[in-house]
Amino acid sequence: MYTNKTTQFYDLVIFGAKGDLTKRKLLPALYKLEKKKKIFKNTRIIGIGRANWNNSEYSKIVKENLLNFLDCSLDENIWKLFKSKLFFYNLDINNTSCFKQLKKILDTDSNITIYYFAMPPNTFEIICKGLGDSHLNNKNTRIVIEKPIGDSLKSAKIINKKISKYFKESQIFRIDHYLGKETTLNLLSLRFANSIFFNNWDNKVIDHVQITVSEKVGIEGRWKYFEKTGQMKDMVQNHLLQLLTIITMSPPNNLEANSIRDEKVKVLNSLRLINNNNVNINTVRGQYSSGIVQGVKVNSYLNEDGVKKNSRTETFVSIRTHIDNSRWEGVPFYLRTGKRLPIKCSKIVIFFKKTPINLFNNSFINIPENKLTIRLEPNEGIDLQIINKIPDLQSEYLLDKVKLNFDYIHTFPKNSLSDAYERLLLESMIGNQSLFVRHDEVEASWKWIDSITNSWSSTNQTPILYKAGTWGPGEISDMIINQDKRYWDNF
Ligand SMILES: NC(=O)c1ccc[n+]([C@@H]2O[C@H](COP(=O)([O-])OP(=O)(O)OC[C@H]3O[C@@H](n4cnc5c(N)ncnc54)[C@H](OP(=O)(O)O)[C@@H]3O)[C@@H](O)[C@H]2O)c1
Repeated sequence: MYTNKTTQFYDLVIFGAKGDLTKRKLLPALYKLEKKKKIFKNTRIIGIGRANWNNSEYSKIVKENLLNFLDCSLDENIWKLFKSKLFFYNLDINNTSCFKQLKKILDTDSNITIYYFAMPPNTFEIICKGLGDSHLNNKNTRIVIEKPIGDSLKSAKIINKKISKYFKESQIFRIDHYLGKETTLNLLSLRFANSIFFNNWDNKVIDHVQITVSEKVGIEGRWKYFEKTGQMKDMVQNHLLQLLTIITMSPPNNLEANSIRDEKVKVLNSLRLINNNNVNINTVRGQYSSGIVQGVKVNSYLNEDGVKKNSRTETFVSIRTHIDNSRWEGVPFYLRTGKRLPIKCSKIVIFFKKTPINLFNNSFINIPENKLTIRLEPNEGIDLQIINKIPDLQSEYLLDKVKLNFDYIHTFPKNSLSDAYERLLLESMIGNQSLFVRHDEVEASWKWIDSITNSWSSTNQTPILYKAGTWGPGEISDMIINQDKRYWDNF
């Protein structure tokens, strides 16, 4: 599935060449692909924006960006190669005649052409129209678009429909950068290449699943975006639901994009709706107050620059949900994500059911469950908690929990983990859509999210304050400990 076939001529056209995403993510990822010899030599990387730069001014800006944002040093020989691929084209997307000019420098009949929209979502339609009206949308062209795809089912449908007037689904690559993480990719091999997991992945053996995506940072000046969006739409609708679908989908027929995406959509459509009647018991919304995160005193959300003093935007969400199909009947899934939590981490923990009998009652009354922890970041790897006899000469069995641990650094010391954007840019060049989100996935996830956010509004649920540097409002313990007699896996 991941063979590199980048032997074709292609042009990568980046709308938003001056923007934050391009500077921080796309350019460093492209430079690293160059370093790894993954970019075909005749490739052109064409930055598009309203600046009046010529190619050499643009190269200078790119070099400055790389020096600022690369996490490795800039090698002058690689830079020379990379620089030879850089071009800048001045274009205001509101000026339709510019697209006709763009046609003069592109050759979409012969070259694969990828248009990367590192632009605000409200510009997607006008770019598509500009490209379409200038016949720059033939079968050799692809568009890569960034989240968020809308902020509700209704707006997502509108965006999908507008784009689909100009590009077929097979040409549309919707990014969720979690899908480009090596550790997310490994979920498929973990589940479907290991018989121990392949054969033991349902409600007969799994008790429950926890998915945590925690951030240490606050909103980092992004209040304009975040005030309107909140943690639910910023993180759950995309990253957490993507992880949930990959961890719970049934085996796809093969590794083709649509086989995988068909299975993911089935999960999304089987998610039990959370509505006015059950939103209070199945969700907790939080907002951080001031506190200390890893020794540093930080402000409350309400005191962040730009945030309204009476803002009801949530910075933390925890959800208990169920998947109503035969594989997962009765298994709760607990999701939580928030800002200003004690550490930055993304992990999935699978709790297996306990043994039906305890033969070791004399020495260990309450034998813990086996637990599979998938560390997406940091300390990328997987560990399995098992119960082991403590070696000694006593006739009684003394038991303890131990971990079978795999981590990437020790097992694959020569293979550094690629950045998600490296992978996703490469896959868009190759034309493999399995790491990109299909229109019906986006819509099914918004449908489920809308039901929760609408219920929050209609039941007037306000976010509960939690101290920055803690694991969210105390109420999340009520859901998992008091109601379900389980516990959060807090490291
Ligand atoms: N930044 C991130 O880390 C991040 C993460 C995930 C998703 N995203 C998504 O990525 C997209 C871009 O985000 P960003 O943070 O990079 O935004 P940004 O910094 O505001 O950059 C947006 C770019 O749009 C260009 N632009 C706006 N109007 C234009 C017009 N009429 N003609 C030509 N260019 C125009 C701007 O060009 P000028 O310089 O000419 O004004 C600018 O380069 C958004 O959809 C965002 O939601 C970003």
